[in-house]
Amino acid sequence: MPIQNILDIQNVSKTYKSAGNALTVLSDISFSVEQGATVAITGPSGSGKTTLLGLCAGLDRASSGSVSLNNVKLNQLTEDERATIRNRYVGFIFQNFQLMPTLTALENVMVPMELRREKDVRARAVELLDKVGLSARANHYPIQLSGGEQQRVSLARAFSNRPAILFADEPTGNLDGETSEKIEKLMFGLNQEAGTTLVIVTHDLELASRTSRIIRLKSGLIQSDQHA
Ligand SMILES: Nc1ncnc2c1ncn2[C@@H]1O[C@H](COP(=O)(O)OP(=O)(O)O)[C@@H](O)[C@H]1O
Ligand SMILES: [Mg+2]
Repeated sequence: MPIQNILDIQNVSKTYKSAGNALTVLSDISFSVEQGATVAITGPSGSGKTTLLGLCAGLDRASSGSVSLNNVKLNQLTEDERATIRNRYVGFIFQNFQLMPTLTALENVMVPMELRREKDVRARAVELLDKVGLSARANHYPIQLSGGEQQRVSLARAFSNRPAILFADEPTGNLDGETSEKIEKLMFGLNQEAGTTLVIVTHDLELASRTSRIIRLKSGLIQSDQHA
């Protein structure tokens, strides 16, 4: 069977309008990613990496061009329809973790499964926390956890729908070397075990070198796209 593209971006541009000014932050970006691939996106601060990741994951809409996830074109979908696609195929982790402060680690992992009305949510959340080595912290609130622990909770949450594709925006940007290594192991482990596609924005050249492809952005344009 031919390998499918899980992600396909064609001629995507993004323009922000503020105070009457239009700011184009992405211009005519095209690339596609095969199911199971590992891709790093690098580039200077302000080059459009976070914006691009948000468009790929269906968190935001392109101003022009098309974005397809698993052969579904996101452009024509409503916000609710895009949320359904995200729930089904996408995991997302953020540099600043974005856990809900009023929920425990366990509850944070349970939320997306509850939204999907799944069964045995608590038991599965326990299992997921165990997988990231945080069983002992299940009842702690985010503020009681270190950065690395919070990022592992957010990974457990992202893993909960067994995502076909995981987007990670500078996932190790706020972590020390040893903790980064743990997070990387978990992400690449998911790629190996479940065939989850990884698209990782990073400044860390060592992390980028572990992927099979590096896309470099500069001023909203693709400067290079190199396969290992
Ligand atoms: N919501 C927004 N409104 C206006 N400008 C934005 C918005 N989000 C990002 N930008 C601008 O878009 C450019 C790219 O930002 P971003 O995608 O966050 O870059 P990176 O992640 O590479 O640092 C920056 O100039 C930033 O100020
Ligand atoms: Mg960014």
